[in-house]
Amino acid sequence: MIGQALNRVDGPMKVTGRATYAYEYGEAGRPLYGVIVGATIGKGRITRIDTEDAERAGGVSMVMTHQNAPEQGPRDESVSFEYWRAQPVLTGPDVHYYGEPVALVVAGTFEQARAAADLVDVEYATGRGRFVFAADDDETYIPKVVNAGLPTDTAVGDFDAGFSNAAVSVDQLYTTPYELSMPMEPHACLVEPRGEDLVVHVSSQIVDAARTSVAATLRTDPARIHIVTPFVGGGFGSKLGIHAETILAALAARALHRPVKVALTRQQVFQLVGVRPTSSQRVRLGAGHDGRLAAIAHDVTMHTNPDLEFAEQTAATTRSLYAAPHRLTSHRLTPLDLPRGSDVRAPGEAPGLLAVESAMDELAEALGMDPVELRIRNEPTVDPERDVPYSDRHLVDCLREGARRFGWEHRPATPASVREGRWLVGCGMSAAIRGHFQGPTTVRVRLEADGTAVVQTDMTDIGTGTYTVLTQVTGDGLGLPPERVRIELGRSELPASWGSGGSWGAANSSTAAHRACAALREQLLVTARGDARSPLHGRDPADAVFAEGSVRIGDASQTLSEIVAGHHPDGMEAEGQTLFMGDDPNYAAYSIHTYGAHFAEVGVDADTAEIRLRRMLGVFSVGRVLNAKTARSQLIGGMIWGTGAALEEEAVVDPRSGAFVNRDLAQYLVPVHADIPDIDAVILDGYDDKANPLGAKGVGELGICGAGAAVANAVFNATGIRVRDFPITIEKVL
Ligand code: MOS
Repeated sequence: MIGQALNRVDGPMKVTGRATYAYEYGEAGRPLYGVIVGATIGKGRITRIDTEDAERAGGVSMVMTHQNAPEQGPRDESVSFEYWRAQPVLTGPDVHYYGEPVALVVAGTFEQARAAADLVDVEYATGRGRFVFAADDDETYIPKVVNAGLPTDTAVGDFDAGFSNAAVSVDQLYTTPYELSMPMEPHACLVEPRGEDLVVHVSSQIVDAARTSVAATLRTDPARIHIVTPFVGGGFGSKLGIHAETILAALAARALHRPVKVALTRQQVFQLVGVRPTSSQRVRLGAGHDGRLAAIAHDVTMHTNPDLEFAEQTAATTRSLYAAPHRLTSHRLTPLDLPRGSDVRAPGEAPGLLAVESAMDELAEALGMDPVELRIRNEPTVDPERDVPYSDRHLVDCLREGARRFGWEHRPATPASVREGRWLVGCGMSAAIRGHFQGPTTVRVRLEADGTAVVQTDMTDIGTGTYTVLTQVTGDGLGLPPERVRIELGRSELPASWGSGGSWGAANSSTAAHRACAALREQLLVTARGDARSPLHGRDPADAVFAEGSVRIGDASQTLSEIVAGHHPDGMEAEGQTLFMGDDPNYAAYSIHTYGAHFAEVGVDADTAEIRLRRMLGVFSVGRVLNAKTARSQLIGGMIWGTGAALEEEAVVDPRSGAFVNRDLAQYLVPVHADIPDIDAVILDGYDDKANPLGAKGVGELGICGAGAAVANAVFNATGIRVRDFPITIEKVL
């Protein structure tokens, strides 16, 4: 059953509206509605805040500002992961970025709250904000670590010597803009007080982080906080942690002893959940005439909010991608009074590969070499910076298979050489690589007396297919058809997981479920074989086969339901776990990644420079596939993101106020159906036995990695124009 393209088991609930999302709960309990008032300056101080008119407005039960907000737990840097820390709001009069919450207005209806929010009168002393990014800023500094605890800088060999002696070199600067996670479901929360406890319905990727963070902020026992998040309408990193809407709803619900709902508006999503930092990336590549790289350097500078440091790991996978004896990577931060940087869709690789894989294309051009061949010539035998073997590296297979399927040999070898009517036509390609992560996750599998398996974990399904994949893994583990497996996710009372993020969710929770099933099979066999009345009594357990709801040993068999009902009428259960990767020896002994290759064809209008993607293919290696359909959907979604990063996505800062001026989906452009033609993702058969016993690795974010560079390289091939300032909008090509 593992690997089959099983349709989503939760699909019918979603398309019939029976899947309940955070903001849809609690209508029967007559909830109150909160609306967040955001700062209209980017830097400065509130000098006066007048809430009287708002408080007197119809239906209003509370206006919370920094003057009356309860004291909250501080951000605790000693908690190793940001998303488990307290997230205090309304802590004082200082404004740190445009849109920062300055008040919450709570009323009987959403309309009343929104009307009263307009009546909150705030006066500011505007400070001198730093809003314009410059990589050579005087204040640019070296962070201690980058995201995911990775080293800031690495150096191997003698880069300067290797680079200056290279026969052919590329030295270019690439820039990427502010980008945002934009899940279809905005960040939303309903908090219901129940005695001393708070039930928090929140749209969240990691239940354990949400619970810990809410409890730390409210200075309460985590056991008093109950997170509920069975369905999540997308996250893309922005729901790894909780945000102002959750804390404000919880503070108001606790103060008013009433359920309170708060949702971010789409515009607030642009302000309050973190952005991908803007980046300036210098890439230097030095190679011999044979294309073999002697030197690779990737130096990155990004913005950070000074109070909430975040350094995206933009150069991190460059450390593992190609062989070269002389190497440098670095990350620098420039403080700006803008929304904080945060994890957004393949943090690190997405902007990093846009630069590095564009530079590889420039090197291929300088060498007069096929860009596929250039990459194959630089295939390393061991991880070139960690000096450990790769667990399961199939980059070359992806390149070769992709080139074959795409018909790469027919591409225009000379830039700007093919024209079809008004269209200049070109092809580009890129490699893809992404780290694979593992985190502590527990899954409990329970077999009921009727022979149904119930899988329990606080893991989330953010639209990626967790319900479906766990159904398959458990069905496989216990020999049950999918309809006899029930999945329970997204509640803090269930065994804790590392949730969904970093593309680790499916592999982590599936591995834990797989182990739980193995432990449960053991228990079932011990129970049956120890029972003198069982047909399996005394039979050799090594020959046991679990299939169709029964255990068979040789010619004897017994149903799982009979075994459970006869001995443990309340059910039998077992747990399985995965370790934090730092505690799993394989993750130290091997370099564990996923790989891919993207191929794109574009047409560029010779007069208007309108760029149209004409076709795109990605070939990927992700270890073993758990569900062919959900995996392919994730990869296609990622490739579409990559196209957006190359051609469209960009949040633009107003240099006077620090506000994103295009903060809605009409002006912050992402690809729509009409932008995406024939596009396909192919996954190579695989099994990474070092990653986990299922052989499965992360899928979701791999699709975006390198995808944009393939499109950008195709634009160059079509036009002969190289744009290094992303996105590649029309005016840059004209
Ligand atoms: Mo992902 S950006 O780690 O949810």
